[in-house]
Amino acid sequence: MASITSELLFFLPFILLAVLSFYTITVAKCHAGWTKKKRPNLPPGTVGWPFIGETFGYLRAYPATSIGQFHEPAHRTVRTYGKIYRSSLFGHPTVVSADAGLNQYILQNEGRLFEVSYPPSIGGILGKWSMLVLVGHHHREMRSIALDFLSSARLRAVLLPEVERHTLLVHRDWLLSSSSAVFSTQHQAKKFTYNLMGKNLMSMEPGEEETERLRLEYVTFMKGVVSAPLKFPGTAYWKALKSRATIVGVIERKMEERLEQMNEDSSTEADDLLGWALKHSNLSKEQILDLLLSLIFAGHETSSVALALAIFFLEGCPKAVKELRKQKLRGECKLSWEDYKEMVFTQCVINETLRLGNVVRFLHRKVIRDVHYNGYDIPSGWKILPVLAAVHLDSSLYEDPNSFSLGGGRSVPKRCLQFYQHKINWN
Ligand code: HEM
Repeated sequence: MASITSELLFFLPFILLAVLSFYTITVAKCHAGWTKKKRPNLPPGTVGWPFIGETFGYLRAYPATSIGQFHEPAHRTVRTYGKIYRSSLFGHPTVVSADAGLNQYILQNEGRLFEVSYPPSIGGILGKWSMLVLVGHHHREMRSIALDFLSSARLRAVLLPEVERHTLLVHRDWLLSSSSAVFSTQHQAKKFTYNLMGKNLMSMEPGEEETERLRLEYVTFMKGVVSAPLKFPGTAYWKALKSRATIVGVIERKMEERLEQMNEDSSTEADDLLGWALKHSNLSKEQILDLLLSLIFAGHETSSVALALAIFFLEGCPKAVKELRKQKLRGECKLSWEDYKEMVFTQCVINETLRLGNVVRFLHRKVIRDVHYNGYDIPSGWKILPVLAAVHLDSSLYEDPNSFSLGGGRSVPKRCLQFYQHKINWN
């Protein structure tokens, strides 16, 4: 370890020099197109330190129900520059948007003016075929495979009953525990969503030894997705890469077993994504692996946090709990799609949880053509971060935006509705 450190110290000045040159060249390139014509009218802002810019300040931890210092109207950045400002984040010149209109414009022009651009750590861990990394034709192909699997017929016939079954399993565990037992909502929500994803993606049964083992690997894997991509022994990223290799090994084995079963009996039909992708797509093994891994990540990390937050918010809202109980009181019969569609109040609770909880606070995009917006020029090659949380907690759009409010018919402004709607439309 000591020798790695001394080697690192030796190379550090060269690494810094290379990074600085890369940064300067990227910024110069971005400006080149404009300077030939006229100076671009960039959004106001500061760039902070070379390369590092303002990244550390931007990523400082803050509660889910707040915008974070960077986007607070009282903070220097927003107070001085307004809702659209420039900065330097994640090693790139960046425009940050806390503006509802620009955020909508970015999402509406996906693929034309902007494209997805997550930090390299995401691709390194989730795989190069992950939907969160792909753009263009490959992205559309992967997306349509995921959408075909999640057809509305499957949602009605398989997923809804599965959600109900897994919910009842959790309730049963609670009932069997002693009345004084204390649960961590977050832990229970994570276990529930992991079991649900494991079952629907790879037919893994909750509670089985393999499911549990994989869950523990997944926890380490997950930590690496959101860590700096430092490939040294001991770092979160390094551990996550090792966990990825273990998880991939398990999925590969399952894939082999499934292929064998399908060869023996071609009518074998599994109600999971693994079987579906093997049977109904031309994806390679590597692509199926990355598809499964990124769906577990995209589905688990979001739904579990949303669930935990809903319970947290509802604790302070007994009237809403009473109302929710009225939503499904049809005795023993199972929840049907019609019941689900009628649960309007439940949908309001979900929407308000997503608004206030801000499960996904901001998105990473890259500008792929020079953009002109509200008098500003945003050069091609720059990164642009639409901050969804800033819109959800904007006091000019919501009265008392930091409170969980279902009464008084809190209306969601139309332009914000899109942020609630998942990119995959479930209806
Ligand atoms: C409360 C729950 C959820 C929230 C808040 C949420 C939020 C989001 C957001 C904001 C994006 C856009 C990311 C971007 O474009 O940069 C996204 C994409 C995605 N989500 Fe979710 N998500 C949730 C649940 C799920 C579930 C359950 C699944 C799968 C089973 C899933 C699969 C995906 C996939 C595959 C993408 C990429 C889609 C694409 O690139 O076209 N998500 N999600």
